[in-house]
Amino acid sequence: MKGVVLRTLRAIDWDFATPRLGYLAPPHWYPGTFLPALSEALLEALTPVGGTIFDPYGGIGTSGWSALRKGRSCHIADVNPVALLVSYATNSLLALTRIDKASANNALGALGRLVGRNDDLFGERQLFSGVAHLDDQVQAICTPEPNAILNLLVVGEPQWSLLENWIEPSTLANMNNLTQAILASQSAYLRLLGLCMISAIARSVCSQHASWGHIADNVRPREMTAQNLYAATTRWLKRTKAFISAPMTQVSTERDIAIKPRIYLRDWSKPADVGPGDADLLLTSPPYADAIDYTLAQRLSLYFLGYDDRAISSLVSAEIGARRKRSKTLSRSTWSEQLCAALKDQVTWVKPSGTICLVLPHKDSGRSSGEDDIRTSLEGMGWHLFFEADRSIHQSHTRHSWTSIKKETILVFSSRK
Ligand SMILES: C[S@@+](CC[C@H](N)C(=O)[O-])C[C@H]1O[C@@H](n2cnc3c(N)ncnc32)[C@H](O)[C@@H]1O
Repeated sequence: MKGVVLRTLRAIDWDFATPRLGYLAPPHWYPGTFLPALSEALLEALTPVGGTIFDPYGGIGTSGWSALRKGRSCHIADVNPVALLVSYATNSLLALTRIDKASANNALGALGRLVGRNDDLFGERQLFSGVAHLDDQVQAICTPEPNAILNLLVVGEPQWSLLENWIEPSTLANMNNLTQAILASQSAYLRLLGLCMISAIARSVCSQHASWGHIADNVRPREMTAQNLYAATTRWLKRTKAFISAPMTQVSTERDIAIKPRIYLRDWSKPADVGPGDADLLLTSPPYADAIDYTLAQRLSLYFLGYDDRAISSLVSAEIGARRKRSKTLSRSTWSEQLCAALKDQVTWVKPSGTICLVLPHKDSGRSSGEDDIRTSLEGMGWHLFFEADRSIHQSHTRHSWTSIKKETILVFSSRK
């Protein structure tokens, strides 16, 4: 078995210089995400169809997308409420598409109507069919149910007075109308999809266009400019429709019903309960030391979910890694210690016959303690390295972020010698 897996892994071009067929822009710009082709290749090589993957630092759920497209279930955890909102919205849409594509399209069509579209973006049939059973359908295939995840992530009314610092007044008034229309929906699932859309477009409708790093660093816009909300929502709806239309591995109807996303709010900087031990693969890219402020980058989205600056500061303190810690002398060793401590809890989610695959910053980027410590820690727990590869990464425009990281390392461990 290991021989076949090794041959498959060795045959992959990990830089993905030629984009894989069907690769589409994701429905959110969250930073530092997996290239979908990367999670897809790893998951196909390391899990059986019908298997389960676990991503403890799941971000917006890219590894879940790969799992659901390829006929696997997933456990996705993260500490960032925006990541979980997007992860739930996108993974539930894919799970829904597997069992009833018309229903997933219908959900987007209904959201389109809430934002004032009544054209044929979703086709006439979908446009006029109801959404009465949507919440029940989603509840049957996703954990937790839509209402429960909303209660977990939304902490109050949007912080309009804080948003005034970022969004031009007439655009903000339109955002207010849009948000009210979404929050008035009877369907918790539509409210959730609508909030995901608002989160995805918040940055493009604000007046700080330099980079998400400027928003993270609280660098407010010099001048306010009106933005076209209708165009932004239309772009998101089209992009999300294309996202759920990408090809999926066909499995039997019986298996389709069993393919489920499960989304968890977890802070791995604190000790955690023992996991379910049913994952075939732990597949993750942990936060990198001194690289990205994930919470602060989502400042605007968090305002929409009701967080004020104080509430955001308390979320920030949970984050492992993070760019703002880069000036602390021990930032990299603390990061490495936190990742190793968390791994002890995270391995309890994996079957003894399973696999662990970590994508880490390359040693050359000055973070060797992380890779070395993690290897030693997993060895100590009986997990042995059986494959290792380097890949180069491309940086998008940010504000002094990602700094020196140009290369990543893929490490694959098994508990069998
Ligand atoms: C490299 S990103 C993962 C991105 C993900 N692979 C994707 O494609 O979206 C690292 C993630 O770790 C999360 N994270 C940071 N500290 C955490 C903590 N203490 N507990 C749980 N997640 C944490 C961040 O919120 C971020 O989403």
